[in-house]
Amino acid sequence: MAKIIVVGSSSIDLVVTSSKRPGAGETVLGESFKTVPGGKGANQAVAAARLGAEVSMIGRVGDDAFAEQILNNFKHNGVCIDYVEPVTHMESGTAHIILAEGDNSIVVVKAANNEVTPEYIDRSMGAFDGADMVMIQQEIPVETVTHVSRACKQLGIPLLLNPAPARPLDEEVIENAAYITPNEHEAKILFASLSVSEALRKYPNKLFITEGSRGVRYFDGLNEVLVPSYKVEVVDTTGAGDTFNAAFAVALAEGKPIFESVRFANRAASLSVTKFGAQGGMPHRQEVEAQM
Ligand code: RIB
Repeated sequence: MAKIIVVGSSSIDLVVTSSKRPGAGETVLGESFKTVPGGKGANQAVAAARLGAEVSMIGRVGDDAFAEQILNNFKHNGVCIDYVEPVTHMESGTAHIILAEGDNSIVVVKAANNEVTPEYIDRSMGAFDGADMVMIQQEIPVETVTHVSRACKQLGIPLLLNPAPARPLDEEVIENAAYITPNEHEAKILFASLSVSEALRKYPNKLFITEGSRGVRYFDGLNEVLVPSYKVEVVDTTGAGDTFNAAFAVALAEGKPIFESVRFANRAASLSVTKFGAQGGMPHRQEVEAQM
């Protein structure tokens, strides 16, 4: 069983559905409102656990009612929360999501996720023992991403960096990561001076650009490869990227070849968008294998 550590955010998603996305200064009537577990880190941890990995989360929650909901959800999905510590006098992270016109718009309030600091990582180093892969995203402080990248390099543990949401990163972090998985928008910010092909060629078998319904593009050392996505009936795309990253990490940590790992991850991501909520459609291992 692959052992995966996820360093990242844990949040509650406050989701409204509406037929129309409001413009600035506009009020529209929505159809529904739901609160569901989310946060890129937590989503990736839950997805990896459902796909059969042994997963430990390193994160923070607040001291509000959402914290209990977040922790119970981890437990329910078999994610180890020994390294998820509550922060007193602070709210849990929240994401405010509008589902409208076939897509989502999201405002993230990091709150307790801001306390996933380098010092907190140092206190959580026990989690890294025997890890096959570490995953990290960007809803936590930028210094923490740098710190974890250095720790992974020193310990010889491959780091999968999902640079979402977009923000520029030091060259050192990019070098320290074993795999980087931006979407097209994030790739433009990370590799501003390079074309897509130049960036892919600079990082063979390391940079994987997710292109939504088209698939995932990378350079295998000889050719640029596009691994196509699977066509499905889309209900909610929230969490598709997180499912892709988790499935990719699980497959790689199990020793699957890169092309096969991307195919597995594409399949898992395609299943995740067929249900409501970031984690609602995240598949279990058997569901993905039945479709391969
Ligand atoms: O990647 C999807 C996630 O991003 C949502 O669950 C929401 O929490 C936002 O952070």
